[in-house]
Amino acid sequence: MPNYKLFARKNSAVVRRVLRGKPMRDATKCTIHPNVDQSEFSSLTVPTYRASTIVFDDAQAFATRLERDLDSYFYGLHGTPTTRTLEAQLTSLENGLRTVIVPSGQSAATLVFLSVLLPGDTVLIPDNVYPPVLEFCLDYLKPRGIHHKIYRPDGERIEELIDPSVKLIWAETPGSTTMEMQDLRAIAALGKKHGILTGADNTWATPLYLKPLDLGIDFSMQALSKYVGGHSDLLLGSVSVKDLELRRKLRDTMRMLGIGVGPDEVALALRGIETMGVRLQHAGKVASSLAEELSAREDVDLVLHPALPDFPQHELWKRDFSGSSGVFSVVLSAKQEANLDDGLNQLKLMAIGASWGGTRSLVAPVTIGQGRKFANALHQRTILRISIGLEDPEDLRTELGNLFDILSN
Ligand SMILES: Cc1ncc(COP(=O)(O)O)c(C=O)c1O
Repeated sequence: MPNYKLFARKNSAVVRRVLRGKPMRDATKCTIHPNVDQSEFSSLTVPTYRASTIVFDDAQAFATRLERDLDSYFYGLHGTPTTRTLEAQLTSLENGLRTVIVPSGQSAATLVFLSVLLPGDTVLIPDNVYPPVLEFCLDYLKPRGIHHKIYRPDGERIEELIDPSVKLIWAETPGSTTMEMQDLRAIAALGKKHGILTGADNTWATPLYLKPLDLGIDFSMQALSKYVGGHSDLLLGSVSVKDLELRRKLRDTMRMLGIGVGPDEVALALRGIETMGVRLQHAGKVASSLAEELSAREDVDLVLHPALPDFPQHELWKRDFSGSSGVFSVVLSAKQEANLDDGLNQLKLMAIGASWGGTRSLVAPVTIGQGRKFANALHQRTILRISIGLEDPEDLRTELGNLFDILSN
C-alpha cells in the first residue's frame, strides 16, 4: 500500500527548499500543493496517483535512482503506487511473484513474445489462439525472422513440433470461439523437459477459476479489459510470473518500447476487481444453465461450453478449473445462418459486439472459414459467441429463446 507519511515528508522537503525563510509569491504557491494532515484519514479506495515526474528526497536519492529495485519508483511510465496496487492484487490472485500491467490484453500477449523471442526462434501457438496474436506472428514477427508453428487446438502432438529453435509454447484454454482446451499441466511439463518457456492466455477463466502458474506455466496473461474491468469501459492487460528474472525481461521490454499505463484505466480496474468474484460467479452460473438449455433444444446442433458434460474436454476442465465464466458458443445450422441477420436485428436486450466480460450480455457471429490450420467441419459454419452479463437470468432466457425461435423458423 502507498506510504502516505513518506509522501507528506517528501512534499514538505520541497516546500522548505523553495521558501528559505521568505514568503512564497503567488505564482509559486500555485505550483506547490500544501501539505495537509493525512494521519486521521483512511479510506477503502486506492488513491489515483497521476505522475510522469517522480521527485526525489535529495541529490543522492536522485543519483542512485537507477539502482532502485523494480518495485520502486523512477518515472511515472514505470509505475506508481496505484499501478503497484493492481499488480500486487493480480499477483496474489495468480499465485505469482510479480505482475506487469500493459495497455491491452493484446499487448500483454505480444509483450511476452517480444520479451523472450529473438530472430531465429520459434513460438508454438494453438490453432484457436486469439486471432490478433496469430496476425502478430504472421505480420510482425515473421518479417523479423521469428517463426511460429501452429499446434492442434486440443493441444495434442505438440512435442512433434519441438526443435531447438522453439523458445516459447503459448496456450489459450479454452481457445477463442471454438473453445477447444489444452492441457496446461502437460504443456508445462513439455516446456520443462525441453527447456522451453510456456505462457497461457487466462482471460476466459481469470485467476479465480484457473491458476496457470500453479500448473507450472511460466507466464499467465489476462485481458483485464474483460472480467477485471467488468464494465466494457477500459483496456488493460497483465502478465504474472513466478520468477523475478522473467519479470525483469518483461520490464526491460516495456522500458525499451516505452510501454506504461494511465492511472484512470488502473483506477477503473481496481474498482472492477472488487466485484469480479460475484460478477463472475453469477455470469458463470447463468451461462452454464443457458448453455445447457440451448443444447437441449431440438433445433440447436451444438453448444460449445466446457462445463457441459458432453463437451469433448469436459474432464480436463473439471480437473484444472474451479468454475466457468460467462462466454460460450453455439454452432448454427444452415437454416439458422440464413436467418441470422433477422434474429440479431430483433434482439431487445443483448447487444451485438465482439468483446466480453461486461454487465451487458453480448452476441457476436463469427465465421472462421479458412482461418485455421487444422480443418474441422465446424469452421465452415457460423458460430455465435455469447457472453452472459448481469441482466436478470429470466430476461436472458426469454431473449435467447426468441432469438433461436426466429433463427429456426
Ligand atoms: C482471449 C482473449 N485474449 C486477449 C484479448 C485481447 O484483449 P484486449 O481487447 O484488451 O486487447 C481478447 C479480446 O477479445 C481475448 O478474447
